[in-house]
Amino acid sequence: AKLLLLHGPNLNLLGTREPEVYGHTTLADINADLAARAQAAGHALEALQSNAEHVLVDRVQAARVDGTAFILINPAAFTHTSVALRDALAAVAIPFIEIHLSNPHRREPFRQHSYFSDQAVGVICGFGADSYRYALDAALQRLAA
Ligand code: DQA
Repeated sequence: AKLLLLHGPNLNLLGTREPEVYGHTTLADINADLAARAQAAGHALEALQSNAEHVLVDRVQAARVDGTAFILINPAAFTHTSVALRDALAAVAIPFIEIHLSNPHRREPFRQHSYFSDQAVGVICGFGADSYRYALDAALQRLAA
């Protein structure tokens, strides 16, 4: 099956961005690791990062017609702001897992609301780059079931 991995704003800076919060792993490392794991399980994973809300909305809309079976998404700051990205995911009705490197629930109050969690299959947060790996494992389980 086809999996889509989406990353929101500022995640292109992973590795150098507030490493005490987000760790030292780069986005390229995460993408390569997940693509290899998906491929080993007989699937294909495409990754996209954007700082622009409309690029992410457009990519989610395209997923409706390109055969994407599952979406893994770290909406980053859009988690707390984007009704548009939430609505796009609802519109395509593709199951998704919400991912965060940090645990937003132990951070500032404004990070404790997500526009995505009530629509997600599940939410994985707080495990650094491993959050992505755990989310992929969960997606692969569901695709196999
Ligand atoms: C984040 C948490 C968000 O609150 C923040 O805006 C991010 C990254 C995370 O992965 O921990 O950019 O989604």
